[in-house]
Amino acid sequence: MLHGPFDVRTPVADGAVLIRDVGPRDGLQAISEEVSLDLKITMTNGLVDAGVPRVEAGSFVSPKAVPRMADSSEVFAAAASGAVLEALVVNERGAHSAVEAGAHVLVGVISVSETFSQRNVRMSTDQAIGELSRIVAVADQTDTPVSVDVSAAFGCAFEGRIGVDAVAEVSSRVADTGVFELVLADTIGAAAPNDVIDVINAVTKRIHGGVQLGLHLHDTRGLALANAAAGIDAGVRRFDASIGGLGGCPFSPGATGNVCTEDLVHLIEALGFSTGIDLDALIGVAQQVEAHLGTTLPSRMLRAGPRFTRTAT
Ligand code: COA
Ligand code: ZN
Repeated sequence: MLHGPFDVRTPVADGAVLIRDVGPRDGLQAISEEVSLDLKITMTNGLVDAGVPRVEAGSFVSPKAVPRMADSSEVFAAAASGAVLEALVVNERGAHSAVEAGAHVLVGVISVSETFSQRNVRMSTDQAIGELSRIVAVADQTDTPVSVDVSAAFGCAFEGRIGVDAVAEVSSRVADTGVFELVLADTIGAAAPNDVIDVINAVTKRIHGGVQLGLHLHDTRGLALANAAAGIDAGVRRFDASIGGLGGCPFSPGATGNVCTEDLVHLIEALGFSTGIDLDALIGVAQQVEAHLGTTLPSRMLRAGPRFTRTAT
């Protein structure tokens, strides 16, 4: 069964890079004030209309843990068609809710750091992998693909540096649960380009070939785009990003914005790859989000003016 306009499980075509915008979820979940349903829907639909192929439109978790995501089913109900719409879930109950709400893909989270796992989902990494198997079983009933963020894969706010072997070990256990994709997440923006290459190489050796690898980068220390370029060099063709560079995890101190989608699209297209995204339309969405939130977003392309790359149109 096809979930959404294309099958996310298919390997990315030569010369293309597949972007998932996680702004409506990772971007908004940590905002302390109320976020209007209108903004969530405007953002999601703006991203779909700009040609973003995958949009993480919300999460189905405890509303006490993440109050901003409590109305995710309403976002899914109002979402435009044209993109694969994804939902973050951390337990079996969330998986049922997400499938019912019409999510095309479920996104699980497994932390390599025990402390972050406890803080984020109140489970050990082992328990969370057990719960992931139950999420996969729910998804399998409707042939819904499951992607997993392997979080704190480059460093943890509580445990500091995370060893490459530990990331590879957790990744191989996650891959064995039947998910189609592993997204190595730099939750606190700790990685440098050499770390990205080391972790990708170590994980690639340990997981079976059917599983696709992606990167989820944060720009806390200003290295997100450099890390993305290193990921491209290492063969990664799947990236998370957040419109305007919004983002952060409420359970991981110091987790600031995700790599900014419009800045990442600019980089990827300058490197000669296609994303299928209309960069001008994307910048328009970032402008709308900025106006809605009344803040200045950490986006470069929003303020840069004309483009000078060889691929600029
Ligand atoms: N959807 C809605 N509510 C849920 C839920 C879900 N998927 N799972 C649990 N809940 C509710 C329970 O009903 C309970 O509500 P109550 O207090 O009114 O009875 C409350 O959440 C706590 O549930 P409990 O089973 O006791 O879990 P917990 O307190 O040990 O918390 C999680 C565990 C996983 C539910 C919680 O930590 C969570 O939702 N974390 C998500 C974190 C997240 O999204 N992080 C960002 C992504 S990186
Ligand atoms: Zn993140």
